[in-house]
Amino acid sequence: MKAIHYSRNGSPEVMEYGDLPDPEVGSDTVLIAVEWISIEGGDLLNRLVTPPPHTPFIPGYQAAGTVSAVGKAVTRFKPGDRVIGFNWNGSHAELFAVPEHYAYPVPDDLDLRLAALIPVAFGTAHDSLFEYGDMKPGDFVLVQGAAGGVGLAAVQFASRAGATVIGTASSRERLERIVPFGLHHGIDYRTEDIAARCKEITQGKGVDLVLDLAGGQGKDALMSAVKPHGRYAVIGAATGTLPSFTFFELIRKALHVVGISFGRDMHTPRVHALLADITRQFTEGHLQMPVAAEFTLANAVEAHRHVAGEHPFGRVLMRVGA
Ligand SMILES: NC(=O)c1ccc[n+]([C@@H]2O[C@H](COP(=O)([O-])OP(=O)(O)OC[C@H]3O[C@@H](n4cnc5c(N)ncnc54)[C@H](OP(=O)(O)O)[C@@H]3O)[C@@H](O)[C@H]2O)c1
Repeated sequence: MKAIHYSRNGSPEVMEYGDLPDPEVGSDTVLIAVEWISIEGGDLLNRLVTPPPHTPFIPGYQAAGTVSAVGKAVTRFKPGDRVIGFNWNGSHAELFAVPEHYAYPVPDDLDLRLAALIPVAFGTAHDSLFEYGDMKPGDFVLVQGAAGGVGLAAVQFASRAGATVIGTASSRERLERIVPFGLHHGIDYRTEDIAARCKEITQGKGVDLVLDLAGGQGKDALMSAVKPHGRYAVIGAATGTLPSFTFFELIRKALHVVGISFGRDMHTPRVHALLADITRQFTEGHLQMPVAAEFTLANAVEAHRHVAGEHPFGRVLMRVGA
């Protein structure tokens, strides 16, 4: 099969396009003939900082396509079924092998192109807010990185659930584009003081829940913005750098910090039911995710460069074939 692979961490240029052996079909494998691949924020972070556990390493968490083969223990899928797959790597390829518990059916009336971007973005946002972030109606929720995939999903869920949603992005123009998704207050993280703006918006109280998708130096401003006894969901590091918390800053704020690892929950019946419901809402038009750009798999270097450097609004997709 054709696949993207790399053997060391680095910029998009470490990736190569070439021939690799087809994945093996184990007893619980659902083998997907990939049509659309969603480039996830984690795909970029892994390429930058996670040493490849084996080489050549095929990156990529998520893709949608048609089942081409199943292992003998698989009960929920058969060849020809339309499916979205998740795995810890391997989606940047013509064939993507996922365990059955990481495969999710695609309804007949949903394009595979859009199905490809649903589980990680929407599931992570939902779990960060509700399962682990304990969000309640009336909360002030601060989404750091609101114009990206997880961020736009979080803005939609939080505003629909009755939060006042504060979001950050790299320009006023981008913030204006988030307003129709449910954003109440936008902060340009490049030019504005996040902590001061949050203090003003919450009338000195501080935000109830922070969703940190960016990591990096911005974490200190988010720590100032959150209220005492508030909640801080550690989700990602889109800046490419992973900051630390000190004992004292957690004690001083009596802070609840929760780490999010959605992939650890994606096999569970709870998440399967959640994703089925989210997929239904998406199909019915109640949830949206803009597709900022499309590339072919062969042009993955360019696609990753675009995500890393061009501030796409929403998701960037790759398709298999021309
Ligand atoms: N823990 C989990 O289970 C889990 C699940 C999914 C994703 N993640 C992680 O979450 C992060 C976001 O994922 P994603 O898919 O939403 O990525 P994405 O679509 O690439 O979006 C990243 C966002 O980060 C923002 N950003 C970059 N630098 C920033 C800064 N200095 N301050 C504030 N915001 C900044 C960008 O905003 P601008 O373009 O406006 O600059 C962009 O909107 C990634 O690190 C990913 O690995 C974690």
